[in-house]
Amino acid sequence: MIPNMWYAVLQSSEVPPGRAVAVERLAERLVCWRDAAGRVAVARDQCPHRGAALSPGRVCEGQLVCPFHGFRFDTAGACTLVPANGRSAPLPQGLRLASYPTWEGHGLIFLWWGQQPPEPATPPWFEDLTPDFSVATIRDPWRAHYSRAVENQLDAAHLPFVHHNTIGRGGKLVVDGPWVEWCDVNRLRMYVQNRVDDGPPARRPDEAPRPSSRFYIELILPNLWQNHLSPDFRLVVAFAPVNTQRTVLYLQSYQRFARAPGLRWLVNWSGMALNRYILHQDRAVVESQQPARSSLRGGELLIPADLPIIEYRRRRQELLGTAE
Ligand code: FES
Ligand SMILES: [Fe+2]
Repeated sequence: MIPNMWYAVLQSSEVPPGRAVAVERLAERLVCWRDAAGRVAVARDQCPHRGAALSPGRVCEGQLVCPFHGFRFDTAGACTLVPANGRSAPLPQGLRLASYPTWEGHGLIFLWWGQQPPEPATPPWFEDLTPDFSVATIRDPWRAHYSRAVENQLDAAHLPFVHHNTIGRGGKLVVDGPWVEWCDVNRLRMYVQNRVDDGPPARRPDEAPRPSSRFYIELILPNLWQNHLSPDFRLVVAFAPVNTQRTVLYLQSYQRFARAPGLRWLVNWSGMALNRYILHQDRAVVESQQPARSSLRGGELLIPADLPIIEYRRRRQELLGTAE
């Protein structure tokens, strides 16, 4: 995993108030809960006293209580009570629960994974998703490394094969471009224009103008993706890394063309059935890929249509350094 980045790791609804929730993310066993004001906390699911899992414990006045000897921890990881020492005893020095900086918004919980202080202070997002969109969400676990799931969403050549009966209908086998631009160091946009094989070979990005920017795909490293289908309809996926073999996808469908409440509900949820079907078309192939994770020099034989994947892998490798 790339260190010192914000990762979307959970849906807000997965951490209800008053409960400790066990979850595995970034190959670590974590515990999540909310303080009395509803602010979310994420910490290692291991008590610093004698190593018991904290997630079976209680949440009391917004503090996490270990089920073994009742030590209490606040959301910053500070120990606030050691019952065996007595309420009036001074607290032991250095007894801290390893906790992570978190940020919550857009229906998601983000975790800062790294030793450096969070920079930027809040996670980057798709700022054009304004509050007038309505949102529906699904959660989909995959048996794949998150990097493979991410790069699949940058793959224009798979559409007529994997999605032959859905979004890839029409036999548009030839991938012109694809055009790729970096909006900032960790934000990539790609523009796709596939066509039926009408004679000329695939055009390189410099052989044709970039298509209209009404439709594009945007990736924010490490794990956020948006399909900008139109100004009023978008799909966002957060790829939450569970461990080196598993990923949970949170797909959010944003639309603002249906505004009446009943119609909005119908559009959101009927669209989600199709989205899940399409995601599972992807899942079937991505789970079969070897090697299990994406890498710049993985021995694969790439083609011009894979340019967005190559760009993603280059930046990922830069950020990873020697971390993986
Ligand atoms: S192991 Fe948690 S309080 Fe002892
Ligand atoms: Fe796909």
